Amino acid sequence: MRNSFEAYQTIYEQSKNNPEQFWSEIAQQFLWKQPWKETVTFDFSLGENQWFIGGKTNITENIFSKIEDKSKIAFYLEPNDVKPEKSVISYGALERKVNQFANALRKKGIGKGDRVCIYLPMKIEAVIAVLACAKIGAVHTIVFAGFSANALADRINDAAAKCIITAQELVRGEKKVPLKKMVDEAISGTSILFSVVLDLEKNHDTSVEEFDFQSFYQNEAEECATEWMDSEDPLFILYTSGSTGKPKGVVHHCGGYMVYTAYTFKNVFQYQSDDVFWCTADIGWITGHSYLIYGPLLNHATSILFEGIPTYPNPGRFWEIVDKYQVTHFYTAPTAIRSLMTFGDAIPQSYGLNSLKVLGTVGEPINKEAYDWYATIIGKQNCPIVDTWWQTETGGILISNMAGIEPSRATYAGLPLPGIFPILLNEKGEEITDPNQEGYLCFSYPWPSMIRTTYGSHERCIQTYFSHFKGYYFSGDAAKKDENGLFRIIGRVDDVINVSGHRFGTAEIENAMNKHERVFESAVVGYPHPLKGQGIVAFVIVNDLEDQSLIESIRSTVQTEIGAIAKPDLIILTDSLPKTRSGKIMRRILRKIAEGETTHFGDTSTLLEPTIVMQLVAAFQSKHIN
Ligand code: WTA
Repeated sequence: MRNSFEAYQTIYEQSKNNPEQFWSEIAQQFLWKQPWKETVTFDFSLGENQWFIGGKTNITENIFSKIEDKSKIAFYLEPNDVKPEKSVISYGALERKVNQFANALRKKGIGKGDRVCIYLPMKIEAVIAVLACAKIGAVHTIVFAGFSANALADRINDAAAKCIITAQELVRGEKKVPLKKMVDEAISGTSILFSVVLDLEKNHDTSVEEFDFQSFYQNEAEECATEWMDSEDPLFILYTSGSTGKPKGVVHHCGGYMVYTAYTFKNVFQYQSDDVFWCTADIGWITGHSYLIYGPLLNHATSILFEGIPTYPNPGRFWEIVDKYQVTHFYTAPTAIRSLMTFGDAIPQSYGLNSLKVLGTVGEPINKEAYDWYATIIGKQNCPIVDTWWQTETGGILISNMAGIEPSRATYAGLPLPGIFPILLNEKGEEITDPNQEGYLCFSYPWPSMIRTTYGSHERCIQTYFSHFKGYYFSGDAAKKDENGLFRIIGRVDDVINVSGHRFGTAEIENAMNKHERVFESAVVGYPHPLKGQGIVAFVIVNDLEDQSLIESIRSTVQTEIGAIAKPDLIILTDSLPKTRSGKIMRRILRKIAEGETTHFGDTSTLLEPTIVMQLVAAFQSKHIN
């Protein structure tokens, strides 16, 4: 449809002149049980936006009943351990399993609006569980299977989930994680009524009823009545980190999310029906939701579902998979690219990689070296790279070049998609129009998959996204625009850090560390890390600076409270932190120390104890170099 830059420009202008008509025409291509009455209403002062109001649909009907050839492969299932054969699931087989699982859930009393927690490895059962929820109108909340039992319990409690779908064990590379054991720890005393466990090993004394995944649904009927959902009924909740301590449940609704993920998948990646798409993200993150599950399936794409990690059993695994399935579209995070780069060019060069047509990145800014390596060594200068900027809250890609259509520039995400109207604001909320000036990345108009609310507290949604600049959604990122209007994302300007593409709030990690009995106070900031993008450094007040064993035990507290992925890279034990006379930690100074600054700290006259700055500089420098 849109296959030239001129066409993009024309469509963008049309969308700007009449966004309602633009989105309405796109939405008409979907299956609606009942048409919508109003395309969009919004009021950013109330943190509100609604789409396709009055319409009724179901995202699973749009996946399964619109496909002509049900024998088409939905997923190639690549397990953790290398196996020469190919295991596949067709759209027809997936639909039957989804219906069976949906029937089984219904029998157990799960229905429209009930929250279902999913804590599973990257296996097809995760997709079945997600779509079964959507089929019956239950609201799924997937928790990344790298989160700890405590983090899982927090999310279950916040969502008041009625049941949990999990696995006995998760295997990733050589590591085995006893998921079921963690679930048992997490769910006692929560709202969970029963659990469904993949490869359940034995029934022992648990606080809830439990079922083996296969026996739970294998005898159910393969037909299932669809729950027709209001466009503005919730589809899922996904927890993500923000500036404040507690992760928040971002809520996405059925109609708008469906339209937007399908539209962006098709247009950004320029997917054609015989292509093989591979998004390496975990289903526990938004990228897995939108571009591993919903976006591709709504376009009847064939995708790879990979259970393992890029370096197991060797660092050629990604490229081996690309060749094995003749992958045409490969979508990953800069952190994976940087880490695979360190193993040298010879590894990818020993594979064909000739099927690749489009490469994508997501989750964090990509540096020039990684971009060039990706383009040259993986793409052989033959594949456009789409650097896609978006967030859990945006539901889908907002800023990205479309593959092969618009100009792409290394380290620049590119132009906004049609229907997306970004604006850069300064501190005072005034628009920055000059090119190459940094500003706060905001949006003046909603899009169909924009966050609807934060679960349990709409006030929090207003405060977080709509209160900084009146009349705008504020992303939390800084960005700049070049002369041609291409956006470059600088990174977060709030207390959110991005470690290997995973989002954490600094307060969230501090709260976890403060649970350690010997920690008095702590402050966390990000620092530039060659592989992870940002590393986590924690300055921690303890009473015995000599006891180095504390460092490991503080790290393990973070692992228990949040998960191994949030463990600080550096912990600096100290007896004090840079505080103002009123007792406030001056984070600005800690950020500078973490960036490697040794002398220029600006005005430190309000500090209670100015000498602490140089002490922390020395401590950081000595640790960092080691
Ligand atoms: C960052 C991930 C630069 C950004 C989809 C954003 C990026 C946060 C890019 C959201 C990109 C995402 N270039 N930065 N292409 N994509 N980010 O919610 O800081 O896990 O605010 O969603 O990741 O992270 P989240």
